[in-house]
Amino acid sequence: MEMLKRIIIDEGIVLSEQVLKVDSFLNHQIDPLLMQEIGRTFANRFGEDEVTKIVTIESSGIAPAVMAGLELGVPVIFARKRKSLTLQDGLYTEKVYSFTKMEESEVSISKKFLSPNDRVLIIDDFLANGEAALAMARIVEQAGASVTGIGIVIEKAFQNGSGKLKELGYRVESLARVSSLANGTVEFAE
Ligand code: G4P
Repeated sequence: MEMLKRIIIDEGIVLSEQVLKVDSFLNHQIDPLLMQEIGRTFANRFGEDEVTKIVTIESSGIAPAVMAGLELGVPVIFARKRKSLTLQDGLYTEKVYSFTKMEESEVSISKKFLSPNDRVLIIDDFLANGEAALAMARIVEQAGASVTGIGIVIEKAFQNGSGKLKELGYRVESLARVSSLANGTVEFAE
């Protein structure tokens, strides 16, 4: 997606060979026009799949997921990282190990929002090692629903997330695939 690549080049900050900071348009401040285009692109790529729900994880997955939900006309569920006062029981829960943060956490979705008839598109802002996407896929499968695909805004293609998810049989579509962050420069695959 050319618009996304251009914004990554213009505004992304390479923090290290592993980490790209994109807080001016995706992770903190959000660019609504970019999000609208991201939603349209996901809808084009997954529009034939008869998706009934979108699942993402708070917080940075929510904006692209909502825009895709708007285009596809389906509800968007975000997995919560903390159990809220009103969300304690009747939950599907999975562990997520973050290699970036070197910590394990749990994510949960209320059982009432997923059913075995659902065809779920998973969306997330970043794909690194694939742990977050896998946790979402396991939750969808706990509900007896099916995962129709995984849509990623920025994939770090030099990490193994995409390979791991594809090996498990999931269709992965990334809007920008970063192949290297070496020497302070962003390079794209393809
Ligand atoms: P994984 O799920 O693919 O295995 O990724 P990992 O554990 O490495 O990532 C944990 C968090 O760090 C996620 O956000 C992910 O989006 C983010 N992240 C990973 N690599 C990068 C990167 O290069 N740049 C930026 N900006 N973020 C990255 P999170 O902690 O869930 O945060 P948020 O969704 O609340 O923003």
